[in-house]
Amino acid sequence: MKTKFKEAIKRHDIKVGIIGMGYVGLPLVIRFGSSGFKVTGFDIDGEKVSILRQGKSYIAHIPPEEIKALIDDEKFYPTDDYTLLSEVDVVIICVPTPLTKTQEPDLRFVRATSRQVAKNGRRGQLVILESTTYPGTTKEILLPDLSVAFGTVGKDFFLAYSPEREDPGNPDFSTEKIPKVVGGVTPACRELAATLYGEVIKKVVPVSSTEVAEFTKLLENIYRSINIALVNELKVLATRMGIDIWEVIQAASTKPFGFHPFYPGPGLGGHCIPIDPFYLSWKAKQYDFANRFIQLSGEINTGMPGYVVSRLMDGLNENEKSLKGSKILVLGIAYKKNVDDLRESPALVIIDKLLKRGAVVSYHDPFIPEIPKTRKYDFSLQSVPLKEDIIRQSDAVLVLTDHDGIDYQWVTSLSRLFVDTRNVSFEFRKKFENIITA
Ligand SMILES: NC(=O)c1ccc[n+]([C@@H]2O[C@H](COP(=O)([O-])OP(=O)(O)OC[C@H]3O[C@@H](n4cnc5c(N)ncnc54)[C@H](O)[C@@H]3O)[C@@H](O)[C@H]2O)c1
Repeated sequence: MKTKFKEAIKRHDIKVGIIGMGYVGLPLVIRFGSSGFKVTGFDIDGEKVSILRQGKSYIAHIPPEEIKALIDDEKFYPTDDYTLLSEVDVVIICVPTPLTKTQEPDLRFVRATSRQVAKNGRRGQLVILESTTYPGTTKEILLPDLSVAFGTVGKDFFLAYSPEREDPGNPDFSTEKIPKVVGGVTPACRELAATLYGEVIKKVVPVSSTEVAEFTKLLENIYRSINIALVNELKVLATRMGIDIWEVIQAASTKPFGFHPFYPGPGLGGHCIPIDPFYLSWKAKQYDFANRFIQLSGEINTGMPGYVVSRLMDGLNENEKSLKGSKILVLGIAYKKNVDDLRESPALVIIDKLLKRGAVVSYHDPFIPEIPKTRKYDFSLQSVPLKEDIIRQSDAVLVLTDHDGIDYQWVTSLSRLFVDTRNVSFEFRKKFENIITA
């Protein structure tokens, strides 16, 4: 079975099913579809399915033309009908893996998908989990469900884990160019999964188990979280010492070995870095082990929004203003530049703190026309145009996301107070007296 399957993969003569049409699943659809594979895209969100069927995109950095071309070419069929899982040869799972309110892994989506694949899939399929999760998930959740439904793994069906390393909005690294780590439950599982990805991704990195692949993703994100926390903490100290941390980082970056720059900011955001480390620290407890680095970096990073607000208050104070009643124009609310993703964005935490302290908040973000209601927040705010009178009327402009396409020097020249959390003012900081960093 394995040899025939492998040959069919190489001929692109198989159907690929991708579950979860989000930031990870959709680029994968485009990758497989544009490489000649037929792709069925599954999502429980009927609205997304309907948008995709019309050949449109709902993610700013994913071009609608690419989706439309695949739909017109009948290479991509979006659906919310799980029974179609029986028609695909490969199932790739890209569903969310958030945290519960008590910061524990919330594997509801993975469990639900696993049950759906077991119910609607069939023998002979290759199933690959891509959602970020703790080491052991593939074997603890998917393997039992699929073994009962299909038989012996590595013989009657194949199961692998391959983490996603998408960097949304980064034009230098498309899905195709990012090496893909692949671990299989058995050698046959790994071989098939590596063959599949090898058809659409330039470099595949096979590892010895699904646990190694799962842990690899967490190491990458924990590394980022800890290093960001480190520079955030050093930023607070440098500011107190009257030293510009960004200048320090720039100078340190000239070291040709042993230093990789990370940059401070208003706090962690996005679906990965603030969340993933806690998947590992939760699992570690089962091994009677406490991850102190994860805990500490989490504390420092979640303290950043409060620090930004205190810096803003210091700046207003210098202008003999209280935060209460002050008009604050926030520039950028997405969690990172040039994307329309608000998930876990520190801007939401900061806006909430400002509103609770009586500030009058407006915002400008070319990627996010309005702030949708979330589980935690309901601000009813819409992006205002970045016009001279709006800037002049504000008591402070607070930059939280460094989107391209904004003339920050022009904004600074019109602002009473310009609070920069992203170093957009590095080139002209010394020329103005109304800038503070935070
Ligand atoms: N966004 C990133 O940059 C990124 C990068 C690397 C890894 N990841 C990981 O990839 C996974 C997916 O993240 P994402 O950002 O694509 O999430 P997302 O929220 O953008 O997309 C997930 C999609 O899955 C759908 N979904 C949920 N349950 C489903 C089910 N039972 N059946 C079918 N569809 C279902 C949702 O409606 C949504 O459209 C997560 O584990 C995340 O940690 C994300």
